Amino acid sequence: MDALRIRGGNSLRGELHVSGSKNASLPILTAALLAEGESVLTGAPNLVDVCTLATLIEQMGAKVTHDEDAEEIRISAAGPINAEAPYELVRTMRASILVLGPLLARFGKAKVSLPGGCAIGARPIDQHLKGLERMGAHIEIEHGYVEATTKGLVGAEIVFDVPTVGGTENLMLAASLARGTTVLRNAAREPEIVDLAKVISSMGAEVEGAGTEKITIHGQSQLQPFHHCVVPDRIEFGTFLVAGVMAGDPLVVCGGIADHQAALIDKLRNLGAEIDVDEANRRTTLKRIERPSALDIHTAPYPGFPTDMQAQLMALLCVANGTSSVSERIFENRFMHVAELNRLGASIKVEGGKAVIRGVERLSGTTVMATDLRASASLVLAGLLADGETTVRRIYHLDRGYQRLGKKLRGVGADIERFSE
Ligand code: EPU
Repeated sequence: MDALRIRGGNSLRGELHVSGSKNASLPILTAALLAEGESVLTGAPNLVDVCTLATLIEQMGAKVTHDEDAEEIRISAAGPINAEAPYELVRTMRASILVLGPLLARFGKAKVSLPGGCAIGARPIDQHLKGLERMGAHIEIEHGYVEATTKGLVGAEIVFDVPTVGGTENLMLAASLARGTTVLRNAAREPEIVDLAKVISSMGAEVEGAGTEKITIHGQSQLQPFHHCVVPDRIEFGTFLVAGVMAGDPLVVCGGIADHQAALIDKLRNLGAEIDVDEANRRTTLKRIERPSALDIHTAPYPGFPTDMQAQLMALLCVANGTSSVSERIFENRFMHVAELNRLGASIKVEGGKAVIRGVERLSGTTVMATDLRASASLVLAGLLADGETTVRRIYHLDRGYQRLGKKLRGVGADIERFSE
C-alpha cells in the first residue's frame, strides 16, 4: 500500500492548478447512458472513482474510451446494454447508484446493488427510490439489489425530504427521458447539479432552475449525445485554499471558481486570511497567516459550508488562537480524522455531532492513518503544518478524489513524497 511522507514547515510558492470535478464527472458519465450516440466528457480528472464508473458503464456493454493524458472520456451506449450494476463495483463506489435513473428511463429496467453504508454514515437512498416510484417505476429490493422496472417514466412533482445531491441528480437524469414535465422541490443546489443541468440541456431536454431549490425538467422521447467540459473541482480548490492560508508565500490557485467556495473563503477571511480573487473569479492568491483566529462552523447543503471541507479546515483550526467548533450536520459519522489529528498533537473532543477544537501552538509529526477521502486530505494538510515528519498511510482513499495531490504540492515547494510500504 502507498503512503505519503511529509516534512512540515515549508512555504508553498507558485501556482497550483485545479483539476476537473470528480463529483460533477460521475453523474455526467451516467448521462451518456441516456443517448445512443457517442458522448464526450473533457477535463475529467484521472481518479479511481472516475475510472470505476467508466468500468461499470463499459461492463454494461457500452463502448468506453478513456484517454487519461488528454483527460477525455468517450462513451457510446448504442447497445445492447445489460442494465445491471453488480455489488463488486457498487461497493467500491456509492455513486454507482447514479446509473439507476438513466437505465430505468432509457431501457425500462435496472438492477443495481444497494450501496450500503460507508465510513462517513449510513447514507440511505430512499429519496432516489421515492422519486422514481413517483415517476412510475416499480421498485423491489431483493437480495441486496434494487430491481426497478417501468412501462415508461412520466413526469411528476417531487418534494425531497432532505436536499440530496445524488437524489437530485438521479431524478434529473430519469426525468430527461420521461414523458412530460418533472418538478423537483427542495432540490440540491450544488455547482455539480448546475453542470449536470447544462449537459442534460445540451442533450435536448429543457432544464430550468438548476442551482435553486426548484428544478423543472421537460422530458424528451430521445436525447442527443453530449460534448462537455466538466466544471473545476471545488473541493480540491478548497483544499488548496486552506494550504495557501497555512503556508502560502504566496500561493496562487488557478482554475477553481471562487464563487463555488464562497462559504469557505468567508470563513478563511474571518480567521484572518488575506485572499485575493481576480476579476474573472479564476485566480486566487493566498498568503500564510501567523496564527488563525478560532472559528465556529457548521456544515450545511450548498451554498452553506460544505461537509466535504470541514476536515481540511479543522486541520488549520488545530493551531488557532482559541477554541473553535465544527458541527457536522450532513453525515452522522464524519469525524474519523479527529483521532488522527489528535495523534499529531491537536486537542479535539467530539461531543455528538460537534467537534470542539482547543487551539495548540504547533502540531508534531507522526504516523497517521487515512480513513476516508476528505479525512485523508485533512491529514496531509496537518502534515504540512506539523514539525518534523508525518507519514499518512492508506492513501488509496486520497487517490479516489485528488489527482496527484502529493505531486502538485511538491511542485509548489512542499517536502512530500509517495512511497510503497
Ligand atoms: N440522504 C437521505 N436519503 C437519500 C439520500 C440522501 O437521507 O435518499 C441524506 C444523506 O444520508 C445525507 C444527506 O441526505 O445525510 C445528504 O446526502 P447527499 O445525497 O446529498 O450525498 P451524496 O449524493 O451521497 C454527495 C457527494 C459527497 C458529498 C455529499 C454532500 C458525490 C459523488 N458525492 O454525496 O461527496 O459529501 O454529496 O455534499 O457527489 C466526497 O466527495 O468526499 C463526498 C463524500
